[in-house]
Amino acid sequence: MSKTVLIAGASRGIGLELAVQYAAEGWRVIAACRAPEQARGWLPASVDVQALDVTSPESIAALAWYLDDAPLDLLICNAGLFGPDTGSFAAPGDAAFDEVMHTNVLGPMRLIQAFGSNVAAARGVLAVMSSSMGSIQDTSGSDAIAYRCSKAAANMVVKTAANEYGPLGACVVSLHPGWVRTEMGGDDAALGVSESVEGLRQVMAELDEDDNGHFIDYRGHRLPW
Ligand SMILES: NC(=O)c1ccc[n+]([C@@H]2O[C@H](COP(=O)([O-])OP(=O)(O)OC[C@H]3O[C@@H](n4cnc5c(N)ncnc54)[C@H](OP(=O)(O)O)[C@@H]3O)[C@@H](O)[C@H]2O)c1
Repeated sequence: MSKTVLIAGASRGIGLELAVQYAAEGWRVIAACRAPEQARGWLPASVDVQALDVTSPESIAALAWYLDDAPLDLLICNAGLFGPDTGSFAAPGDAAFDEVMHTNVLGPMRLIQAFGSNVAAARGVLAVMSSSMGSIQDTSGSDAIAYRCSKAAANMVVKTAANEYGPLGACVVSLHPGWVRTEMGGDDAALGVSESVEGLRQVMAELDEDDNGHFIDYRGHRLPW
């Protein structure tokens, strides 16, 4: 029987490429996007495109109702926002801070609460697309403070979720996709999106219970929190 993946935030960039590659491999792909009608135009026909705004509890509840208790082999909380960046230490405005934190932190919290048991039922993988910019130990810059704080907090979401859903059978991880040429990563990024996603897929395929609660990059290297 084919495996099922739910990708939250699949309209472009890394999320779109994950949907394309998993569909090509024969998975049942549920691509959840803010603008599903638009995304249907560039996703393969086999992909089940559903509406999702990760900042909306109602939207998450509607998707949970649609999926009911269907087991999920893989949930990828990919939706993300970079937010304001002046290049140096600068506190964001209230609205910008709220938007970044609601998308990058509260979004994965609510998604995991809604779908964690679906993943545990399949003894599957629950991955949050974090960033090396969320590693406190590895931080050398002072830019993009809202994004950095949001990804550090997302890492804590992963650690706590690993304690809850790991014992139930899921493997919960934070992933770093590399610096990738997408709208967020920009044209100067080191990696093409297909190369990053091929690496991420291989890493997720090889995870086992020892990886629960770890921060791992697209090459399979563990990162410091
Ligand atoms: N690119 C990099 O170098 C890099 C490095 C480290 C980590 N990451 C992380 O990897 C993930 C994907 O990044 P990317 O480079 O592919 O970024 P991207 O091209 O900017 O795409 C972001 C995706 O998130 C979706 N999204 C944003 N807010 C959403 C919401 N409220 N509800 C549902 N979907 C939402 C966007 O959908 P819309 O089309 O509706 O806006 C889009 O599909 C992010 O979490 C990012 O932080 C990226």
